[in-house]
Amino acid sequence: MYTLGIETSCDETSCAVLKDYKVLSNITVSSLKEHKKYGGVIPEIATRAHLKNIDSVVGAAASEAGVSLRRIDLVAVTHKPGLIGALVVGLNFAKSIAFALNKPFIGVNHLYAHFFAPFLDGKVRLEFPFLGVVISGGHTEIYLVNDFDRIRLLGQTRDDACGEVYDKISRALGLGYPGGPVIDRLYNFKCKDEFAFKCGRIGFDLSFSGIKTAVIYKKIELDKKGALDKETKVKLVSSFQYTVVNTVVKTIIDAAKKYKVRRIVCGGGVVANKLLRKILQKAQHQENLECFLSPLSYCGDNAAMVAGLGFYLYNKRGVKSTMNLGEAAN
Ligand code: KG4
Ligand code: ZN
Repeated sequence: MYTLGIETSCDETSCAVLKDYKVLSNITVSSLKEHKKYGGVIPEIATRAHLKNIDSVVGAAASEAGVSLRRIDLVAVTHKPGLIGALVVGLNFAKSIAFALNKPFIGVNHLYAHFFAPFLDGKVRLEFPFLGVVISGGHTEIYLVNDFDRIRLLGQTRDDACGEVYDKISRALGLGYPGGPVIDRLYNFKCKDEFAFKCGRIGFDLSFSGIKTAVIYKKIELDKKGALDKETKVKLVSSFQYTVVNTVVKTIIDAAKKYKVRRIVCGGGVVANKLLRKILQKAQHQENLECFLSPLSYCGDNAAMVAGLGFYLYNKRGVKSTMNLGEAAN
């Protein structure tokens, strides 16, 4: 079966074609450059970029897969959460294709799609239950997943998302946007204890705004003393990253233990982080857990994960109406 997936929840216009779970194409065009000077995504700009790009992105995905739109059996699209104007572009484009071709149409929750990513291409066997973890620019959430339509939220950030804090700290230090990859690159293990930062945690909830403020205040203090050179910035971001990553991993492991699940499945932009991947992989052996991390190519927003989850849900429950999100709206 061929599934066409469409993703437009933030600044990536993405379209993928899957044959069952095999990714035949996954084309993503980002408006990232247009947001750079603002240090964050501007919804209006993202929406207009989706409008401009979606037609050619969908065409490119079909042509790279060698599958004409007529041969598509199912259309899957992110319907939430995300920037509303941005979502509307993808949702209506997907509906139009489904309507014109008279094909079933299914709405997919973007967050659940993030932790579907490790199952693409049949690399990992889908077995329940597992802990589904999303760590991205907009979300930091831990779920107990008994199936993709039986998901329970166990913990989430109470304020900023993890990636958002990477971006804000990077901006404050003049290191560029998006901050995650920059800080990941600058991280130096030897500098991890240079500054004593704390990352907030309440049960399985997390709080990142305190550490963000602490890093920014420290930066201001150092700047006033004329001591904010490149080396000091590396020390700041290394201490920040070490603290945040360890707190996030500890929270995930504690949740896995409390809910007695051995499998942990992680997706989202921040899951590309080298330190996070290393610590989670190490924890597998120490804690007798199995960690499935999204491949780097599917960590950021992409339509392949949306198509994959759409196909899974379609197989499980079908769709009643071509145009109605209906029960998919979970
Ligand atoms: O999943 P994603 O592409 O978009 C959202 O749905 O939010 O995540 C983007 C976020 C940004 O905040 C970015 O700074 C962060 O992921 N990110 C990283 C890394 N690569 C991207 N954070 C830490 N380390 C990275 N290597
Ligand atoms: Zn995302």
